[in-house]
Amino acid sequence: MTSSLAALEQRARELLDLVHYDYFAGGAGDEITLADNEQAFRRLALLPRVLRDTSSRSIATNLLGDPSSMPVFVSPTAFHKLAHPDGERATARGVAAAGLILIASMAGTVAIGEVTAAAQDVDREARVWFQLYLQPDPEVTAELVRRAKRAGCTALVVTVDSPVHGRRAREDRHGFHDLPANMRAENMRGLPGSTGDAVRSIAMSSDFTWDHLRRLREMTDLPLVLKGILHPEDARLAVEFGADAIVVSNHGGRQLDRTPASLDALPAIAAAVADRIPVFLDGGVRCGSDVALALALGATAVGVGRPVLWGLAVGGDKGVTDVLDTLRSEFEHTLTLCGIAELSELNTSLVITRGASQ
Ligand code: FNR
Ligand code: LAC
Repeated sequence: MTSSLAALEQRARELLDLVHYDYFAGGAGDEITLADNEQAFRRLALLPRVLRDTSSRSIATNLLGDPSSMPVFVSPTAFHKLAHPDGERATARGVAAAGLILIASMAGTVAIGEVTAAAQDVDREARVWFQLYLQPDPEVTAELVRRAKRAGCTALVVTVDSPVHGRRAREDRHGFHDLPANMRAENMRGLPGSTGDAVRSIAMSSDFTWDHLRRLREMTDLPLVLKGILHPEDARLAVEFGADAIVVSNHGGRQLDRTPASLDALPAIAAAVADRIPVFLDGGVRCGSDVALALALGATAVGVGRPVLWGLAVGGDKGVTDVLDTLRSEFEHTLTLCGIAELSELNTSLVITRGASQ
């Protein structure tokens, strides 16, 4: 983590109720995976090229056809009103101002239609994707999909790493089970079987299989992204299933502790997918050189989770934009110093293990 991001997190920690800070910052079990997500980037080194003209490089790109000012998106995180009174509305404004795609969590404290409206208020081109947990009642899943579509979301991101909630020691220690009285999981409003006011109000189920995804595929024509893939065999199955993209992710170390860092899982998955669909990654991305390393190892784009929450807590929508603009300028700077004239030049030849000889 850069020192400025560490200072931002520290400031957020001072501003937030400790219970809420710990909900955002914490991970599952002994938080081994949580720590490893960041450390994995520190184990690698970039091997720069020199005397290459990088003066007209553009890092603007598109993800599943949606415009993005760089190959970075905002990963879905729950309950933004715990960080800022405007909640996901502020996040959406801040992400749109940075020209990026927001993946809005199904566990949002602002309804998805208001999230997309806030983003498009800032920029008509702004795009929001909807993160979905398959629900035990297929009618509930279908209604969530309808709500996302009506709101103008342009892709569904189905999180597949959560047959049950992770065991989070910090949440248990604080007994953090209920949301404050003035907030709820708004996307669950009016759906059968949901109260929406519990931290774990999103139902999960351990009987979901690829067949359930096939049913989802039949419900909608929106692109489907599968988030939470770590095993190369599952990546292959995702391609076979017809997923439009996958996200290599361990849920920010919040589900199964002791999974590898996302970055360590990436090369085998990139090899298994072999450019057939985009491979995204999230977990531990904290600075521009992290973005460069992940892209060099085969990611098409990377997601950031917690840094956006710290920006939101400290500065609302402007705080979110600042975090993302900083990341963009660091990424540009890294590319220039690495002699990269086009994003497609980022490849494994630029990465070595720290401490190893070439
Ligand atoms: C998450 N994450 C998450 N993922 C998801 O699919 N749906 C969700 O509702 C949430 N909620 C959530 C809440 C909080 C507080 C955090 C920190 C994370 C996981 C998230 O999308 C992403 O995978 C990680 O946060 C990425 O790691 P970093 O950038 O936080 O290290
Ligand atoms: C979390 C759930 C909501 O990580 O995905 O807290």
